[in-house]
Amino acid sequence: MKNIKPGLLALSIATASHGAFAFQQGDIIVRAGLANVSPNDSSSNIFVGGDLGVDLAVGDDTQLGLNFAYFLTDKLNIEVLAATPFTHDVDFGVNDPLGTGDRLGEVTHLPPTVTLNYYFNIPSSALQLYVGAGLNYTVIYDEKFTGANDAAGLKNLSLDNSFGFSAQVGVDYMMNDQWFINGSVRWIDIDTEASFNLNGAPGRVDSIEIDPMVYTLSLGYLF
Ligand code: NI
Repeated sequence: MKNIKPGLLALSIATASHGAFAFQQGDIIVRAGLANVSPNDSSSNIFVGGDLGVDLAVGDDTQLGLNFAYFLTDKLNIEVLAATPFTHDVDFGVNDPLGTGDRLGEVTHLPPTVTLNYYFNIPSSALQLYVGAGLNYTVIYDEKFTGANDAAGLKNLSLDNSFGFSAQVGVDYMMNDQWFINGSVRWIDIDTEASFNLNGAPGRVDSIEIDPMVYTLSLGYLF
């Protein structure tokens, strides 16, 4: 019995700490799954010399989303959203004024977001709901026109990075003490502007609101 007792004690402590489904201060969770960035985009018109009378549209993309959170208290966690890079088509909003096809080019971005989440934390429930607010920094890079547009004289596309607010609602469904399924819907305020050259003449789009909804479906693990 001398050998078994410490084992039973450790087991009973482990059961007590995660016997209920609610998260606890000090918990670390990791989630991995699919993240879809779906822009609610709008933009001002494209300027090259004058107003071309045409705006831009930004397409959506789905990538691998990764998510880490640490519980500061039983009800509050701080979460970092990471992902593999998203690539979005950039199109003319209406008719193509250059006659090179509606697709202008594409941009790639990474939208790391830090969020403070509040858990309603019902101890006996396998379903844990939370709401969160945070800050996003979107790094936009690898901006390029399509080959046809490049051949038509469109060069040097550049979009500014964006810093803005983010908000989300989410739910964790505990399958057991360690594994859970997560779904979340997040809004991110991503605003940028673009510059480019058309046959050497400077062009610009002063305001591009991407403001996407980000939908994630993940598998989570509680350490
Ligand atoms: Ni915005």
